[in-house]
Amino acid sequence: MTENKIAIFASGNGSNAEKFFDYFRNHSSIEITCLLSNNIDAYALTRAQNNEVQSRVFSRKLFYDSEEVLEFLKQLSITHIVLAGFMWLVPKYLINAFPNRMFNIHPALLPKYGGKGMYGHHVHEAVIANSENESGISIHFVNEVYDDGEVIFQARCPVKEEDDPDTLAQRIHKLEYKYYPEVVEAVILDREVPVQ
Ligand code: GRF
Repeated sequence: MTENKIAIFASGNGSNAEKFFDYFRNHSSIEITCLLSNNIDAYALTRAQNNEVQSRVFSRKLFYDSEEVLEFLKQLSITHIVLAGFMWLVPKYLINAFPNRMFNIHPALLPKYGGKGMYGHHVHEAVIANSENESGISIHFVNEVYDDGEVIFQARCPVKEEDDPDTLAQRIHKLEYKYYPEVVEAVILDREVPVQ
């Protein structure tokens, strides 16, 4: 029996979710059990289907005014949550149910360029506008404030003079794909977190 069961929460494309499906496909003690989304049009749902991972879509009302999402996770014996491009603030009842068992990835070096409204291209635009010469990724535990939980891992990359938000996003995505599943695995299995 698999001891560690991950639920992925994704609102959009789901390219990080796809990396988790690949990385944990034949893992001995960790499985990706389900994918949940707040967005019926999220391509992440198609990716889940293609990978034979069950999925659910929930409304704002169900997420914030009931604990049905938690009940669903309990039914599946979910032990960990991975946010992968999930756009809504996670409510307290869910955070309390997964203490230090809920991860997020942010496409910048927190605490800089985090918080409400700092997502996707907004982050990269701000980094470029401030003439930063490096950016990167932050993997952190989730608490009740956007991008505020304890940082577990960071990896860095240069910001080049010729970069626009798209070219910087591509460089950062590569770091995300390389490290996010591996760092989550290390934390779950209580192993040393990799260094960049
Ligand atoms: C990633 O850049 C991640 O850092 C952020 O949302 C993006 C999700 O991309 N939290 P995708 O949906 O995994 O392609």
